[in-house]
Amino acid sequence: FADKALQGVKLMITAGPTREAIDPVRYISNHSSGKMGYAIAEQAAKMGAQVTLISGPVSLTCPQGVDRINATSATEMHEAVMGRIGQQDIFIGCAAVADYRPEIVADAKIKKNNDQMVVTMVKNPDILADVAALSDAPFTVGFAAETHDVEKYARGKLEKKKLNMIAANDVSDPSIGFNSDQNALTLYWTNGSLLLPATSKSNLASQLLMQVNQAYRKQ
Ligand code: PMT
Repeated sequence: FADKALQGVKLMITAGPTREAIDPVRYISNHSSGKMGYAIAEQAAKMGAQVTLISGPVSLTCPQGVDRINATSATEMHEAVMGRIGQQDIFIGCAAVADYRPEIVADAKIKKNNDQMVVTMVKNPDILADVAALSDAPFTVGFAAETHDVEKYARGKLEKKKLNMIAANDVSDPSIGFNSDQNALTLYWTNGSLLLPATSKSNLASQLLMQVNQAYRKQ
């Protein structure tokens, strides 16, 4: 398979959503199914990589040969990643990590006593930025889920988070992106870009990994 181009490479990938608890029975989350990240984990393992998948709560089975570690909230995912990142050559952040979490998690179910309910949210740690900022950072690839001005925001994240590459998808189109079996990506790096047109997530995963592998070898 693609000549085992990633043989011996240690690759970590995050996938799926995170859940940010409001009380013991409620949480705030998003529409990520984990399909894109799991497809990348599966293809990377087929290409010979030693894959660690840090997974949010999804209903997918772990691809063969992949080491999966589960995390529910952004804080848990951050801990799971940072505790294991020292060994990694490549990091891909495909999880839809919640940017904010409720400041206070009620320890009992909140009752419906008022007409309005206000939840104050505080910022979560940025896993991708923290990985890229390590002194011995792996080759770091981010994702950007955008509904408009895709290139502008994707390039902004590439620079601000000091990434080697970013894969942007337009999540305003329901036929691609969140939860569908298809996606399209545009890869951006400092001096270039490449469009990977709509196809299955597994096909796209292997095209993405071939580009990542090339750029990783060149650095
Ligand atoms: O899971 P699927 O249903 O298959 O859908 C796939 C997908 C649309 C979720 C996926 O292709 C995708 O775009 N993933 C990134 C979603 C996202 O959170 O994008 P963002 O633009 O908000 O975040 C930018 C990058 O920072 C991402 O690499 C994200 O993992 C990372 N991040 C964000 C916030 C945070 N606190 N920590 C992070 O590491």
